[in-house]
Amino acid sequence: MQQVSQDVVWHQCAVSQPERNELNGHQSVLLWYTGLSGSGKSTIANAVDRKLYELGIHSYVLDGDNVRHGLNGDLEFSDQDRVENIRRISEVAKLMVDAGLVVSTAFISPFMTDRAQAKQLVGETRFIEIFIDTPLAVCEARDPKGLYRKARAGEIKHFTGIDSTYQAPIDADIHLATEQLSVEQCTNQVIQTLFKRKIIT
Ligand code: PPS
Repeated sequence: MQQVSQDVVWHQCAVSQPERNELNGHQSVLLWYTGLSGSGKSTIANAVDRKLYELGIHSYVLDGDNVRHGLNGDLEFSDQDRVENIRRISEVAKLMVDAGLVVSTAFISPFMTDRAQAKQLVGETRFIEIFIDTPLAVCEARDPKGLYRKARAGEIKHFTGIDSTYQAPIDADIHLATEQLSVEQCTNQVIQTLFKRKIIT
């Protein structure tokens, strides 16, 4: 990452984050979903987002596949590119939290240090880590995009869980063991946490 030039000076926004939160009638927060490919990150993040919309909450989902079509279209799946992928997403998510939104990020985000950096950037009280805990064997059996089959056949290199590391969270704020829970139950757990933490009321 490049150092910021000394000639670049931070400009304070005229409207503060608390003012935006007050206008929206809810707090802003980053819901950070992490899990293997095919674990259900996007499905659960979108189900939560739908529920938030119905509750009148201003929210948005940043999704791995979609962001890699645009902003991060220059990145592949080496460890280095994944680190840069998550760094950029964290910065974008921070801006969106500053803008007053409940932001969901649905990325594999395989490395603990990158997730910790996202938390530090946004601030501890505005970061909720959600581990979509679906075992590799289950993700592989689902194989919704046929990517595990290709990875096993050696047609895709650096595939998470096959020949690229996934560091599971050890102290996630929300742990969703998806084998035992329906999408609705997972969604309710996330929404209940937002109520409990008074992010939404
Ligand atoms: S990461 O590790 O956070 O940078 O990955 P992410 O940006 O979330 O992108 C994951 C999606 O990219 C597809 N894909 C791969 N995933 C893992 N490893 C390799 N090599 C790979 N190649 C392509 C895959 O569809 C992932 O989507 P999800 O939704 O996670 O299944």
